[in-house]
Amino acid sequence: MENLDLSSMKLVDRPETFDFEGISMTHYFTDNWEKVKNFQARPDDILIATYPKAGTTWVSYILDLLYFGNDALECETSLPIYMRVPFLESCFQGSPTGTEMADNLPTSPRLIKTHLPVQLVPKSFWEQNSRVVYVARNAKDNAVSYFHFDRMNMVQPEPGDWNKFLQKFLKGKNVFGPWYDHVSGWWEKKQTYSNLLYMFYEDMVEDTGREVERLCSSLGLSTSVEEREKITKGVQFDTMKQNQITNHSTIPFMDFKISPFMRKGKVGDWKNHFTMAQNEQFDEVYKQKMKNTTVMFRTEI
Ligand code: A3P
Repeated sequence: MENLDLSSMKLVDRPETFDFEGISMTHYFTDNWEKVKNFQARPDDILIATYPKAGTTWVSYILDLLYFGNDALECETSLPIYMRVPFLESCFQGSPTGTEMADNLPTSPRLIKTHLPVQLVPKSFWEQNSRVVYVARNAKDNAVSYFHFDRMNMVQPEPGDWNKFLQKFLKGKNVFGPWYDHVSGWWEKKQTYSNLLYMFYEDMVEDTGREVERLCSSLGLSTSVEEREKITKGVQFDTMKQNQITNHSTIPFMDFKISPFMRKGKVGDWKNHFTMAQNEQFDEVYKQKMKNTTVMFRTEI
């Protein structure tokens, strides 16, 4: 695999969102839809599924290290995570599509990332009984992280100020649709699809080592205690922030002067953003939207 030359990517104006199968999307995630829909999964594929900003990069890197060893920790020239773990539905000008990158992955298993809500996942993943690791993050921190991401990422829609973004989040009009349906849709899937591990960002922050162990036992990996400890150390926030493989510093359409990709990595940062009125409004909407699901989140640890 060659390193991607993203500098050749033509930058266009920030995209608009539109309704796609009932979900707010930008063309970057729908232009290649026929290929995405017909993507051929394999039984040993591992699909990493998340709502944007829930800890995708974190769990991707953990899995990368668990499967393909510690080389990435030591080798500065290793490929960045977005090449090691292709983003299935992505289609950015000047770069191979997510499906092309996944088709060309030489690894076994293939680690593949998606932000699609469960109902839009290509059916071959279910037919092949591929493993899925889903990571969910509490709505308040997820919204804050998404706001800062949209500020700095020029291929995302313009977020406006925090309140404008929050109102959009409450209406479920962000790219990849409502957070509520995403986390509860995948939670429902877990009830009938046994190859799905449902994880929480808050658990990973609370005790990364424990969650690495959980991943190992769920995936049937017999990684030694020493190796697990080494990986747990290598995936701490400060280490990943310095690491070029994971910090996204090589992506030209992200403006780190506005906000870094590895921003804070905390549970409870929402308290620095929500006014009391916004918090009350949020809790009210949350109660309504989440009344039919049993999935529970922690907004502090
Ligand atoms: P913040 O913006 O709250 O800092 P994704 O990879 O899905 O885009 O998620 C990005 C979020 O995960 C960012 O949250 C980022 O800082 C956080 N993150 C990434 N690696 C992390 C780590 N090792 N520990 C804690 N948080 C991490």
